[in-house]
Amino acid sequence: MSISNEQKILILDFGSQYTQLIARRVRELGVYSELHPFNISIETIKKIAPKGIILSGGPASVYEENSPRVAQEIFDLGIPIFGICYGMQTMAVQLGGNVEGSAKKEFGHTEIILESSSALFKNIPKKNSVWMSHGDKVVKLPQDFASIASSDNAEIVAMSNEEKHWYGVQFHPEVTHTNHGDVMLSHFLYAICQCKRQWVVSNIIDDLVRRIREMVKEESVILALSGGVDSSVLAALLQRAIGDQLTCVFVDNGLLRLNEADQVMALLSEELNVKIKCVDAKMQFLNALKGVNDPEAKRKIIGAEFIKVFDDESKKLNDIHWLAQGTIYPDVIESSGHDGAKSKVIKSHHNVGGLPEKMNLKLLEPLRELFKDEVRNIGVALGLPKSMIYRHPFPGPGLAVRILGEVKPDYLEIVRHADAIFIEELRTAHLYDLVSQAFAVFLPVKSVGVVGDNRQYEYVISLRAVETIDFMTATAVELSYSLLKKVSARILNEVPRVSRVVYDISDKPPATIEWE
Ligand code: XMP
Repeated sequence: MSISNEQKILILDFGSQYTQLIARRVRELGVYSELHPFNISIETIKKIAPKGIILSGGPASVYEENSPRVAQEIFDLGIPIFGICYGMQTMAVQLGGNVEGSAKKEFGHTEIILESSSALFKNIPKKNSVWMSHGDKVVKLPQDFASIASSDNAEIVAMSNEEKHWYGVQFHPEVTHTNHGDVMLSHFLYAICQCKRQWVVSNIIDDLVRRIREMVKEESVILALSGGVDSSVLAALLQRAIGDQLTCVFVDNGLLRLNEADQVMALLSEELNVKIKCVDAKMQFLNALKGVNDPEAKRKIIGAEFIKVFDDESKKLNDIHWLAQGTIYPDVIESSGHDGAKSKVIKSHHNVGGLPEKMNLKLLEPLRELFKDEVRNIGVALGLPKSMIYRHPFPGPGLAVRILGEVKPDYLEIVRHADAIFIEELRTAHLYDLVSQAFAVFLPVKSVGVVGDNRQYEYVISLRAVETIDFMTATAVELSYSLLKKVSARILNEVPRVSRVVYDISDKPPATIEWE
């Protein structure tokens, strides 16, 4: 049995932008949590057998017709329940209380006075600043509940039935703007649900290794290694679990960053002993991209070529039974469809969809219960360097979407060098880890420059650096002029055939992060 089955918190999602954050916070505090849509059946909940349930926030109002409700039977399970924001409101209404729209809506920071005798607020100062993001409030408590926090604007900012271990808070303990929010969550997990602290990196690795061995047995596994965080961590994890039964295929498509293929091979193959087959498919990709200008066509071609190469390589290997993929929890949540209108994160083409059936392989996805930060922590614990684990994301189609229009070998060389200079200078200035993504873009336009006494018409490089939390919106970083001038001077001096460097200051939206 996995540790996760014994110590589990179930989070029922009513659609708040913070729901994933609740799940991450619970795990950071050392308890495994699972996210499900609010309307899963009571039978499913019983099967999950959680130690406690958290009802998330959400955008609806409980007094609207058809607003979401949780299965009433959860209140008969005899386990602790914690309603957050909308979760508190639906809990109040479902247990006989009342909720109204507030004349004075509280959004953002609010000072509250809390009742420290409640198990939820133990050892937290009476006056506390919390983060609100909903206009409604509970105006009548359900039977056997007491108000355990109030504000100038509301008598009931939090409520509890201490005997039954039911709690509700109008604010968001999961966001860092709420002072002592982590302490409240920790009280819920440990004092109230009586969970054990088992969800820590060493346990997670041991547990994954054991489960992988149980599943795979003596059979062999193939993994498409992209050099990105998820597939690299997966390679290291599988190496620990099954050693030589794993073969990785690393496709050098010629669209990678400077020295990237060598670095991946040196690190994973030489240092971590992962068995890797590196396929030099540069010419194949370049030929397929010849004359193609349209960005989506380029993406499709790259995806199709990748599958071709991977399929060919795997046919050369004998007796493969499993295809491993670096699917992580946010991918699972999004594709499960309960994420509603929230837009999807763009997935890498390395998600070799369709291949397992075609190749008659079983699918192995050991990271599918983990958030990105957990994958990173595991990677570090398995010996991967932080410089790789915290590397900026890089799109599956690689430099092909950073060269506008047709991809040509000399353009690739130019953008690769310009990019390496930019990144090196960001690292030297200790800014690399502060920006979310930075790179150079090649513009195939000719601009005049003066070299010696001659006028030359050469290419333009645009630099891009953005800050973002979810990559759905982003702001251009205000890099200092001196840094930009230094990068520009170096690119103009060191990279042949570039006559001009510009800095892209557009935010997303309306611009996207990549230029194509
Ligand atoms: P955009 O350009 O859409 O980028 O603002 C958002 C994030 O997605 C990455 N991106 C991609 N990743 N395949 C990928 O694997 C793609 O085709 C692709 N296009 C964009 C981009 O680098 C940024 O992190």
